[in-house]
Amino acid sequence: MNNATRFFSRAAGTMQESAIRKMGALGARGTDIISFAPGFPAPDVFAWAEFRDIAQSVLDGSDATVLQYGPTRGYRPLVEALPEILAGRGIRATPEQVIVTTGSQQALDLCARVFVDPGDVVLVELPTYTGAITAFRNTQARLVGVRQDRDGIDLEDLDRTLLAERAAGRRIAFLYVVPNFQNPTGLLVSLEKRARLLQWASTRDVLIVEDDPYGALHFTDAASASDTRPIKVDDTEGRVVYLSSFSKTVAPGFRVAWIAAAEPLVAKIEVAKQAADLCTGGLDQRIVYDVWKRGVLAARVPMLREYYQAKRRVMEAALEREMNSLVTWPEPRGGFFLWAFFGDAIDTDAMLEKAVGHGVVYVAGSAFFVDGRRSGFARLSFSAPSHQRIEEGIRRLAVAVREHTAATTSAPAPG
Ligand SMILES: Cc1ncc(COP(=O)(O)O)c(C=O)c1O
Repeated sequence: MNNATRFFSRAAGTMQESAIRKMGALGARGTDIISFAPGFPAPDVFAWAEFRDIAQSVLDGSDATVLQYGPTRGYRPLVEALPEILAGRGIRATPEQVIVTTGSQQALDLCARVFVDPGDVVLVELPTYTGAITAFRNTQARLVGVRQDRDGIDLEDLDRTLLAERAAGRRIAFLYVVPNFQNPTGLLVSLEKRARLLQWASTRDVLIVEDDPYGALHFTDAASASDTRPIKVDDTEGRVVYLSSFSKTVAPGFRVAWIAAAEPLVAKIEVAKQAADLCTGGLDQRIVYDVWKRGVLAARVPMLREYYQAKRRVMEAALEREMNSLVTWPEPRGGFFLWAFFGDAIDTDAMLEKAVGHGVVYVAGSAFFVDGRRSGFARLSFSAPSHQRIEEGIRRLAVAVREHTAATTSAPAPG
């Protein structure tokens, strides 16, 4: 049909495809493309045998509710387990203060629906997670970026930005932050800054949405569990909406995550979720619950830390070896991402074509900046490829960077 766009709402007209999904598709297209683009966990560390065993017993037919619609709040045993899981991270919560979501991605979408009116401001880090950008934009939020330094969000810039937006008569819906091994920068916010941030939010009466899918995955050579203490731990006023997920530690295919927040907020989020999907998949929730209940998750997390830490080392060593002076990055102290900077003279969007030509992809930094800037940054995910593919991918990238640099520096000056 020609001109099908006439059927779209105004909001749909502004929806944008995720840059990461686009890059992921590119990675899948070629037979020999090494992809550093998607932040996928590695399938070789999924607990396949345990999943099989649990699925078999859950599907033995003795419990018909397994394949029935379930409560919007979530599978009751999982809802009741979440306070214990949260307590492991230092967060106190009751079952009334939690809700299961279909991935944290749905949690972001629900936060946008419940807290944002069109034109409201959502404050985000520069750069920030693309999935959050798209979820918030879908409700026509005005996304306003705040600078980060090596220690995460810049509190002076944050306050300046908030005051300017309020002075312009705009409502601040919330501040969105990823303090643990941020996507895309891998940055870890210091405990001191977390405390100051919460104090600031209290003084300025701002709601914080704290997204924490990577908190359990610190690298023991660079951080400890206490460094990842969520902001929510110290929230005595109910101003932090805490999101976390089983995607990175169990498997993202199960689509099971959760929100912990003050009771009235969770109750409203539940109403919004009723319209979104009625409930998160019952089979998925039961499998994830059993993985936790049987102690499989607790037993595996230390192995996952070592596993991803080793991959980070391989990527860092390859970068040093292949293009030492051409690239810098903040050390990832956990999580899945290395935030590479190739210098101000490089535009990683423009360089992407060269990279693909040499059989490697990354996500250009521009995908993560809400101010629309292009830059010399690229997000390199080290989580999924094997050691050997990481080494080969960085070798290819080095060739692309050298070629691109030579082409841009030898181009005739305009005018
Ligand atoms: C910061 C952040 N938030 C949320 C998500 C979504 O995770 P889920 O699989 O739980 O939807 C991701 C996934 O990459 C992420 O990096």
